[in-house]
Amino acid sequence: MKKLGVAVVGAGFWGRNHARVFSELEETKLLAVCDIDAERAKKVANQFGAEAYVETGRMLKRKDIEAVSICTWSTSLAKEALKALKAGKHVLVEKPMAANSKQAEALIKTAEMEGLHLSVGFLMRFIPGIQYIKKAIEEKSIGELVCATAKRVSQWPERIGDIGVVKDLAIHDIDITRYLFGDDPIAVYAKTGNMRHKLFEDYAHIMLTFKEGKNAFIESNWLTPYKTRVLVVTGSKAIVKLDYITQELTIEDAKETVQPRIPWQEPLKLELQHFANCVFGKEKPLITGEDGLKALKIAEAALKSSRTGRLVKIG
Ligand SMILES: NC(=O)c1ccc[n+]([C@@H]2O[C@H](COP(=O)([O-])OP(=O)(O)OC[C@H]3O[C@@H](n4cnc5c(N)ncnc54)[C@H](O)[C@@H]3O)[C@@H](O)[C@H]2O)c1
Repeated sequence: MKKLGVAVVGAGFWGRNHARVFSELEETKLLAVCDIDAERAKKVANQFGAEAYVETGRMLKRKDIEAVSICTWSTSLAKEALKALKAGKHVLVEKPMAANSKQAEALIKTAEMEGLHLSVGFLMRFIPGIQYIKKAIEEKSIGELVCATAKRVSQWPERIGDIGVVKDLAIHDIDITRYLFGDDPIAVYAKTGNMRHKLFEDYAHIMLTFKEGKNAFIESNWLTPYKTRVLVVTGSKAIVKLDYITQELTIEDAKETVQPRIPWQEPLKLELQHFANCVFGKEKPLITGEDGLKALKIAEAALKSSRTGRLVKIG
């Protein structure tokens, strides 16, 4: 089986996991790890049998590297992703894809021009329970979709100092609601603020309005002393609850409470495997650059709504 030659740029908390999974998958071969912190690059590269780089210039000239995962700080994702695309590499860029939607647009345009696959690290779509809920909505086994509420709260991981909680955490739930509703919201209303973080918002309450009166409510913060990642989807016949951490799913209707046992799977493994198969043309992309751009635009609209105190229309 031909393996996809890959490199990881940014070998911090998350990039290290990308490197590990790429080194484990049958579909991929981890060839290089790059980090501006030489010690980190060396440590992760040595651990997973790859070559270390402190900058991407020479690395991106390697012909055996066909695809690159970008896991740098959120504000440098777009710059590094653009360099990789311009060097002819397929790219998986971590969320939030870019610091702003203008940068995200440039990535999409470049990928299109170069004929390259571009995806965004919306990991939540690869949690098996999300696929279960998507099917339940489509088949209407929970009745008509009414609303979704998402809660993603925990303490502030201090290494994240370049963006606020909306683009860092809430963006996962923005993407999941777009995905599950199979549609884009028409308007957003949000309240955000900062209690501990000096530069950016550390809490956000976001309400997304969809066509036909459907709604989504997203609560995110870096203030809660324990970690919660929960999604509740209300249908006219039943309610489905997903705990993203345990991957437990609970379905309640008027008669019973059911907990289907879906085996736990590592979402990053499924995501990177899918990415490789998309590059090979074996699978249709579940997440496109356009999905990244749309989520980022909704995040920007939420921040604008909070700043202005008004409902912001989208589209
Ligand atoms: N999809 C998910 O569930 C998920 C989870 C965690 C993190 N992330 C994303 O992954 C990215 C990294 O997060 P993290 O928690 O690993 O941060 P981190 O601070 O632990 O790691 C970032 C690393 O990137 C390096 N770096 C910064 N700029 C660079 C550049 N231009 N070239 C090479 N290396 C560079 C830093 O030295 C650091 O080692 C963020 O964008 C974050 O949003 C996504």
